[in-house]
Amino acid sequence: MGRSEELLKELDEYLMTNLYPTHKIVVREARDIYVYDVDGNAYLDFMTVVTTALLGHNPPGLADAIAETAKRLIAGNGYNWYTEELLNAAKAVLSLFPDKNLYNKVHFKLSGSEGIELALKIAKRYTKNTYIMYLMGGYHGRTYLTGSYHGMRRREYGPLPPGTLIAPFPYPYRCPFGDMPPEECGKAAVETIEYYINYVAIKDVCCLVTEPIQGVGGIVVPPMDFFERLKKVLDTYGILLIFDEVQSGMGRTGTTWAFEQFNVKPDIVVAAKGMTGGLPASAVVTRKEITSAMQLNDEHSTFGASAIIMAAVKATVDYYNMHKEELLSNAKKMGEYAMKRLMELYDKHPLIGDVRGLGLMIGIELVKNRKTKEPATKETSDICLNRALKRGVLFVTSGWNGNVIRFAPPLTVKQEHIDKAIEVLDKSLGEIEKEENIK
Ligand SMILES: Cc1ncc(COP(=O)(O)O)c(C=O)c1O
Repeated sequence: MGRSEELLKELDEYLMTNLYPTHKIVVREARDIYVYDVDGNAYLDFMTVVTTALLGHNPPGLADAIAETAKRLIAGNGYNWYTEELLNAAKAVLSLFPDKNLYNKVHFKLSGSEGIELALKIAKRYTKNTYIMYLMGGYHGRTYLTGSYHGMRRREYGPLPPGTLIAPFPYPYRCPFGDMPPEECGKAAVETIEYYINYVAIKDVCCLVTEPIQGVGGIVVPPMDFFERLKKVLDTYGILLIFDEVQSGMGRTGTTWAFEQFNVKPDIVVAAKGMTGGLPASAVVTRKEITSAMQLNDEHSTFGASAIIMAAVKATVDYYNMHKEELLSNAKKMGEYAMKRLMELYDKHPLIGDVRGLGLMIGIELVKNRKTKEPATKETSDICLNRALKRGVLFVTSGWNGNVIRFAPPLTVKQEHIDKAIEVLDKSLGEIEKEENIK
């Protein structure tokens, strides 16, 4: 029995392993796109810790920054005293936003969920309105408030918290208004949102929170003019637009922020994952006018913004800024290459219903039948947790039906890595189609 096998047995005994669908590997270390288990097996990481290892695992400078800070200061947060690390991280994060009129203040929290909750509180204080709107299929975390939004497990943990409204999201492959071109679907969604504002919330809405591209919801890219249209309506009613760039931020889509590609400037941006190098942090970024509505003691967190975390954020953002041109150009080039290769798989494999994405945020939606679009949920999970894993590639599922494979390698990915991932998908899809007679 290998070390992995022994440990997996023990992990099952002591942990609540029934709470999450995990890859059955025990990881010892990771570098760039490679992850190694305790037996020394190497895996190509196309899930990047749900998009956190954006610059590859352990980019140069990160471990040293953490170690150097840890030797001096471990306990502490960014709210009971200040540190130079906190200031440096704030400057680094704000350097990612060229428009200084709109984005000049930042506050750090520990996780994406907490960052979203803070953004919601800011919107309530600033507008003095109460309703929060979010869009179907969006995902903003697992705290009770953010977790209630996204719809998953709503029956078990429901009902929705009072004062929350869910409006339709224009999902081009499965438009909630019926079969129509994506732009029409986007238009219908904006009209419905305006209807909700007027007749359901009676204009008492503080914000609409949305991902630019739904990540956990299945890498769903809305029509490119959707947010521009939406922002016009929200501005009419004084409603803040909050962009959750926790997954899409810092280069993942080929631009630093996904919002740059949608020709819209949100009022509040929440970033996390990729910007942190892997340590727990999120950044809520907005302008002074909006944040000054908050009052003393509105916020605190025992562990938030500690010096070690802030040093990691600075090291990660510095590395990104230093290599930005290469990283973004690689994300675009490799994203296009991956899409081309995936479209070849689409032509060959009836299990693939749709391929979509921007940059290196790509989704492959699997269906049992292209006409009925019946989700191939079991098959998607089987590929990610068994067949691809066995062949040395890590993928994770997404989508509300669990039938989308996320194709999200680090920005440093090379063509040979993509070729290997495509080969593994090709074999895995072929096997299932044969076994289940899917044509
Ligand atoms: C878009 C988005 N928002 C928020 C979150 C929640 O972040 P966390 O798990 O750090 O609370 C996630 C996590 O996957 C996410 O993808």
